[in-house]
Amino acid sequence: MAYKVQDKYFKKAKEEGFAARSVYKLQDIDQKFKLIKTGQVIADFGCSPGSWSQWLSQKVGPQGKVIGWDLTEVPLKLPNVIFFQEDMLKINLPSFLEQNQLPTLMDGVVSDMAPKTTGIRDVDQARSHELCDMALQLALQVLKPKGFFVCKYFQSGEFNKFRDQLKKHFQRVEVVKPPATRTHSYEIFLVGINFGKN
Ligand SMILES: C[S@@+](CC[C@H](N)C(=O)[O-])C[C@H]1O[C@@H](n2cnc3c(N)ncnc32)[C@H](O)[C@@H]1O
Repeated sequence: MAYKVQDKYFKKAKEEGFAARSVYKLQDIDQKFKLIKTGQVIADFGCSPGSWSQWLSQKVGPQGKVIGWDLTEVPLKLPNVIFFQEDMLKINLPSFLEQNQLPTLMDGVVSDMAPKTTGIRDVDQARSHELCDMALQLALQVLKPKGFFVCKYFQSGEFNKFRDQLKKHFQRVEVVKPPATRTHSYEIFLVGINFGKN
């Protein structure tokens, strides 16, 4: 991350022991759509420094499992979470899960992946789009029927096309800008609910 926003969410995350303020974005999404439940298996793409995984770990509890991937190592030890250092643009997810003897089907896939921002809007948007597109392709390979997908997206001209892609695979698709997202930021979150349209 290029810099840290030291606002009320930053302070709250510090007080509550979360690795990043981004945790409140996922909490807000879950409060709205009630996605995350005890015992679920959840994939967390772009999980470093680990705040989403920390919170998911608490929510799924000891019967559940969280599997996180990032380019960067996550220096946390959590009982029901396993972290991997991988490039999600290059991974073969079904065989990765099989080779590591992990569950091969997920109740949910969440992706907070973001490129290193350059400050050049077109470049950042294109890189974000590539990551979101890959997150969706991977989610389609591993989601259980009725599963959910949450994905951070840097708004661009491709946005409607991407949302339409989700609509092909999920019964309900929502777009959210959680309060913890900075007002001037062009990031938003897409939420796909009930994977498999039939
Ligand atoms: C905003 S941070 C995620 C914060 C995290 N959700 C949390 O709550 O701690 C975005 C992450 O996406 C990761 N990322 C970007 N491109 C990636 C890729 N190709 N594969 C895996 N992770 C990637 C970055 O390394 C970075 O750690």
